Amino acid sequence: MNNENPVDILVIGTGLAGLSLALRLSGHGRRITILAKGTLTEGSSLYAQGGIAAAIGRQDSYESHVEDTIAAGAGLCRPEAVEYIVRRGPENIQWLTDQGVEFDRQCAVAGQEDFHLSREGGHALRRVVHAQDATGRAVETTLEAKARSHPDICVMEHSIALDLITSTKLSLDAPERCLGAYILDLKRNRIYPLAARVVAIATGGAAKTYLYTSNPDTSTGDGIAMAWRAGCRIANMEFVQFHPTCLYHPHAKSFLISEAVRGEGGRLLLPDGSTFMQEHDARGELAPRDIVARAIDYEMKRHGCDCVYLDISDKPAEYIRQHFPNIYERCLAFNIDISKEPIPVVPAAHYTCGGVLTNLQGRTDLVDLYVIGEAASTGLHGANRLASNSLLECLVLAESASEDIITRLAASRSTRAELPSWDESQVTDPDEQVVVSHNWDELRRFMWDYVGIVRTTKRLKRAQRRIGLLQEEIRDFYSNFRVGNDLLELRNLVCVAELIVLSALRRQESRGLHYMLDFPNESPNPRDTVLIPGNFSGHCPAPTW
Ligand code: FAD
Ligand code: SIN
Repeated sequence: MNNENPVDILVIGTGLAGLSLALRLSGHGRRITILAKGTLTEGSSLYAQGGIAAAIGRQDSYESHVEDTIAAGAGLCRPEAVEYIVRRGPENIQWLTDQGVEFDRQCAVAGQEDFHLSREGGHALRRVVHAQDATGRAVETTLEAKARSHPDICVMEHSIALDLITSTKLSLDAPERCLGAYILDLKRNRIYPLAARVVAIATGGAAKTYLYTSNPDTSTGDGIAMAWRAGCRIANMEFVQFHPTCLYHPHAKSFLISEAVRGEGGRLLLPDGSTFMQEHDARGELAPRDIVARAIDYEMKRHGCDCVYLDISDKPAEYIRQHFPNIYERCLAFNIDISKEPIPVVPAAHYTCGGVLTNLQGRTDLVDLYVIGEAASTGLHGANRLASNSLLECLVLAESASEDIITRLAASRSTRAELPSWDESQVTDPDEQVVVSHNWDELRRFMWDYVGIVRTTKRLKRAQRRIGLLQEEIRDFYSNFRVGNDLLELRNLVCVAELIVLSALRRQESRGLHYMLDFPNESPNPRDTVLIPGNFSGHCPAPTW
């Protein structure tokens, strides 16, 4: 298939959301192209450790999973979204199993095998289906093989979507809709337009906005920024989830120590060996993430220490190696034997709870643009995501969006538009690459310092002023120089940082992941923060959210 031929469906992103969507769309006589920034599997999904939450255990129920999700979401979950996604959990685990994913099993009753379920913070009981401590790898590599071999799917790696193309941007005298996207082909170093009848964004989150993060380099918020520039509303961006336990070691870039370690009895310790979580929450180590991350942040500041410790060493070494083989090996590579000693850990930016406002089919404000996965805001997570609900959401929304897209394409006679080439006639090669990397660094550092786990209005405003300065420089760069990956990512990161800060300033209360020292109480009327772009047309059928 020629890459530049128009396609029926363009899926931007090949994490669990994008790959599941492409596979669900295949087999319907549609031509699907999937784009990945780097190699096909690189993205947060690949690094998922704990697993996928689903009410599958004999003692479990949908009601209990719904209740835990809503409790973690601190008043902002949309109950219809929670109900919809939770109820489709078990069938989606079955779908993954049918694709060939091998989850851990256990023999529950003699002769009967069941999934082994692990426990994570905020869940009332064991509910997380997993493949050892490397669930993401098992899922991604299985789906990758399927996608690569499917004749309906064209895989384009090292290809970055720059911006969406809409009828308004082309000044067409036609109803507002998404027509395709401009793509930067990194290998051939050129930009071209790709027309599609439907575009689906599945580009993941934006945790790279922060200096310390558990996320890989792909999480630069590209999809959220593109949708915002195309006129879509963005919701609840202030709710940035910090994972409580990332390995603290100068050479361990972004390595997570799964919450499942606490689920199996791991205890958090101060440098002197004393425990502290009970002083912060009666659920101790298994309190929801916002509480645990804030408690660690508080204790680190109180004691002036660089990290706290997570100790699972009272379990037998064999048990640890069996349950957490990757974490065990990775720590050992840094001379930490977790079966004998505690692991140094710190919180790090982990998950973007907000995103592009969508309905439960992934529809956005822009006709023919869908957004699913971490880039979307469906209402499932509210003010704080419950552990292991993200992969679940990727799967369920891929299923529902695929059904909607197939029905829509069958019913619509929309054709693919002729798109203009990317205009590079006015630009030159950049001569100040160092400025781009300096700005990257500066942004991520002040976001960590001023827009982190604990916030104040003064710090947020300080961040806002710096974002304004960066935006000016980026505008200048973007219009005068040939764009490359670093500049594109910086432009998107700064855009998303602005959305986070704007949302945080609007929320004059403390709720879930958003903690303000100058507004420490929760307001009695929980409300979503919905940002409306200047070019919001309001003409499109808005998602019913
Ligand atoms: P991703 O998996 O991040 O994929 C994004 C894709 O978009 C990539 O293919 C990337 O190349 C592509 N992309 C991005 N921008 C562009 C662009 N401009 N052009 C083209 N392509 C682009 N959640 C759970 O539920 N359970 C867990 O156990 C769990 N563990 C986690 C452990 C770690 C270390 C991390 C980082 C996250 C974890 N999460 C977990 C969260 C979860 O993994 C993510 O929320 C989820 O994988 C997001 O999936 P996604 O498909 O939306 O995006
Ligand atoms: C983990 O394994 O701790 C990550 C789970 C998640 O982010 O949902």
